[in-house]
Amino acid sequence: MKQQGAVVWFSGFSGAGKSTIAEALTEKLKSEGYQLEVLDGDEVRENLTKDLGFSKEDRDTNLRRIGFVAKLLARNGVIVLAPVISPYRAIREEMRANIDNFVEVFVNAPISVCEERDVKGLYKKVRAGEIKQFTGISDPYEPPTNPEVECRTDLEEISESADKIFKKIKELGYIS
Ligand code: ADX
Repeated sequence: MKQQGAVVWFSGFSGAGKSTIAEALTEKLKSEGYQLEVLDGDEVRENLTKDLGFSKEDRDTNLRRIGFVAKLLARNGVIVLAPVISPYRAIREEMRANIDNFVEVFVNAPISVCEERDVKGLYKKVRAGEIKQFTGISDPYEPPTNPEVECRTDLEEISESADKIFKKIKELGYIS
């Protein structure tokens, strides 16, 4: 096999570009014949974690379930991309401790830029008081202190971000 299983965990604000970079990386990996799966927070929350909300406890449970599935896939050689806000440092460290070949990617753009983009119209709803506990506005976000990769999506192109991650996975020996 020319790949090892790995888990690429994308953390950052809503609208920072986690899913978009994961999509670009998916294309790149697929075009080169690597096997992968994507566990996107928005999608997983429609099925596996539909019962959960956005309290700290629920977010942590959401992420533990995602981490569990990611671990099963990765130990069978699959590269897993997980674009999930994952606002709390402790849970990300728990994932790092439990999962082999864990790669943390900090998808970083200032909250003002994410709000400006407002791809899903959620920030508008937050400002109108329709959504509570929104990460970066009315709920905490603890930035990664030592991520393997940082993508400044306000300063770099999507393809640059995807390339940086691709290179890092290669450098770590998870793909060849
Ligand atoms: S996490 O905090 O548990 O890691 P996850 O990535 O699964 O979050 O889901 C976040 C997605 O849920 C966002 O992209 C957004 O579309 C939606 N969402 C709805 N309410 C909230 C909220 N209060 N805070 C953050 N995201 C929310």
